Amino acid sequence: MRLLFLAVLRPHTGNAVTAQRVRDHLEAAGHVCLLRDAFDFDGPSEVAGLIRAEALEAALALHLYRAGRLLQGHGIPFGVIFGGTDLNEDISQGEKKQVMGKVLEEARFAVAFTESMKAAACLQWPQAEGKIYVQSQGIATAPNASFDWGAFLQRAGISRGAHGVHVFLLICGLRHVKDPLYLVDAFSEWHQEEEPSAYLVIVGPEVDPVFTREVKAKVERAAGVRLLPEMPQEDLHAVIQNCFALVNTSVSEGMSAAILEAMDLEVPVLARNIPGNAAVVQHGVTGLLFSDPQVEDFVQLAQGLLRDPALRGAMVARGREYVQTRHSWRAERDTYQSLIRTLEQGADRQDPLTRASP
Ligand SMILES: *[C@@H]1O[C@H](CO)[C@@H](O)[C@H](O)[C@H]1NC(C)=O
Ligand SMILES: *[C@@H]1O[C@H](CO)[C@@H](O)[C@H](O)[C@H]1NC(C)=O
Repeated sequence: MRLLFLAVLRPHTGNAVTAQRVRDHLEAAGHVCLLRDAFDFDGPSEVAGLIRAEALEAALALHLYRAGRLLQGHGIPFGVIFGGTDLNEDISQGEKKQVMGKVLEEARFAVAFTESMKAAACLQWPQAEGKIYVQSQGIATAPNASFDWGAFLQRAGISRGAHGVHVFLLICGLRHVKDPLYLVDAFSEWHQEEEPSAYLVIVGPEVDPVFTREVKAKVERAAGVRLLPEMPQEDLHAVIQNCFALVNTSVSEGMSAAILEAMDLEVPVLARNIPGNAAVVQHGVTGLLFSDPQVEDFVQLAQGLLRDPALRGAMVARGREYVQTRHSWRAERDTYQSLIRTLEQGADRQDPLTRASP
C-alpha cells in the first residue's frame, strides 16, 4: 500500500524517533510510507492535495490532535497512535478533546504505548475501547562496532588514571527541563575528594542557546565533568555500551529511550526518581533511583555500584530481560504490520492481533 504517515517531527524528540522506527516497520512489510511533519500543513486541504498527488491509499498519525485531525474527511482509511501530550494535556481542553474524539471515531485502530494511556483514553471515550491496542515502544540498539573509546576519552579530556576511568553518562538536550546541571556540584566534589576515576560526561544537542552558555560556563569550572556535542545514534550507543552507568536527571514527563537503550546494552541506570523513570526503573532491581544529588543519595548509590560488581551484574541482567520482554522491537514490528493490514481495502474487521498470533 501507499501510506501517508503524519507525525510531529521536531528533531531530538522521542516522537521523531518513534515515527521513524514505525515507518521502518511498515516499509519492511513492503509498503511505501511517506513520513511528513504535521506542522508543515496548514490544513486538511493541503493534505488532500498530497493524497491525490501521491495516490496514497491509507494513512497513520502519531498524535491524535496534532496529526490525526488532518486525516479526517479524505475518504482514505487511517489509524492513529496516541502521543503523550494527547493524554497529558490536550484531553483536558474542551475543544481539543472534541476533535480527538472525532478522530478516534473515524480511525480504524488506535495505539497506546501503555496500559495507563489506554485507560485514560477509555475513560474519556469508552465506546472506542475495542479498537485501542496497547503496544509499548520497541527498543533496538546498534552500537558502532568500530567506535574508538580511547579517542572518545581523549576528546573529552579524560586520561586513564591508576584506577581506570568510570564514565557516568548523561544524554541530554541542553534544556531547562532536562536539568543537566542537577548533579554537577555533587559529582564534582565526589570526583575531587573521593573518586578521581569517576567522570560525569554530558552529551547532547544545544537545544536552547542561552541555557547552553550557562551549562558550558558551569561545566568548565567543575572538575570531573565534561560536555560533548551530540553524536550519531550508532556512536552514542557505543558510548553507552562503554560507560560505567547511564544517568538521567530529567524532571520532564515521558519515557526515556536512553534508559531503555542502556538496559538493552547491559549498562546500569541511575535515574532521578520521577514518575516517568519510576515506571521503567525498579529500584535495586532493574536500576537505581535517586531523589537527591548529595552524598546521602546519588553519590552513595554511585559509590555502591562501583564497589559492588555483583550488584551491577545482577541489575544489568534484569534490566536487559525487562527491555527484551516489555519493549520488544520484534513485537512492535508485528503489531504495526498487522494493524496496517486492517487499512487495506476489503480488510475484514476481525481482531488483527488475534489473527496475527499463531
Ligand atoms: C563508527 O566509528 C568510526 C570510528 O570512530 C567512525 O569512523 C565511523 O564513521 C562510525 N560509523 C558510524 C556509522 O557512525
Ligand atoms: C530522562 O527521563 C525522562 C523521563 O523518563 C525523559 O523524559 C527524559 O527525556 C530523559 N532524559 C534525560 C536526558 O534526562
